Amino acid sequence: GDSVNQKEGPVTVSEGALLTLNCTYQTASLAPYLFWYIQHLNKAPQFLMKGLTADKKVEHEGFQATLKSDSSFHLQKWAVQTSDSAVYNCALSDTVREGCMGS
Ligand SMILES: *[C@@H]1O[C@H](CO)[C@@H](O)[C@H](O)[C@H]1NC(C)=O
Repeated sequence: GDSVNQKEGPVTVSEGALLTLNCTYQTASLAPYLFWYIQHLNKAPQFLMKGLTADKKVEHEGFQATLKSDSSFHLQKWAVQTSDSAVYNCALSDTVREGCMGS
């Protein structure tokens, strides 16, 4: 079935350095949606960004990710701050369809 894989456990990055969090996925869907959520300690998860279009870079608040045809949606942020310490979750949806045609 569909799956999302984040290999890393805790990732430590020096302040000011580049943060890379890998996300790979497997799905039969030809048009999967990938999401990144951020969850700060003792806070609810917050939507960070969504990748809909292959090879199109999406950016939000210094974070960026590109939905790749090699089935990855790696998250990157340059010049990380202490305030970026959080749990980051990658999620996959192939059920959400906006404006889909009847089947
Ligand atoms: C993350 O992805 C990059 C690019 O695909 C790869 O070179 C790197 O080895 C990956 N890192 C881990 C920890 O899987």
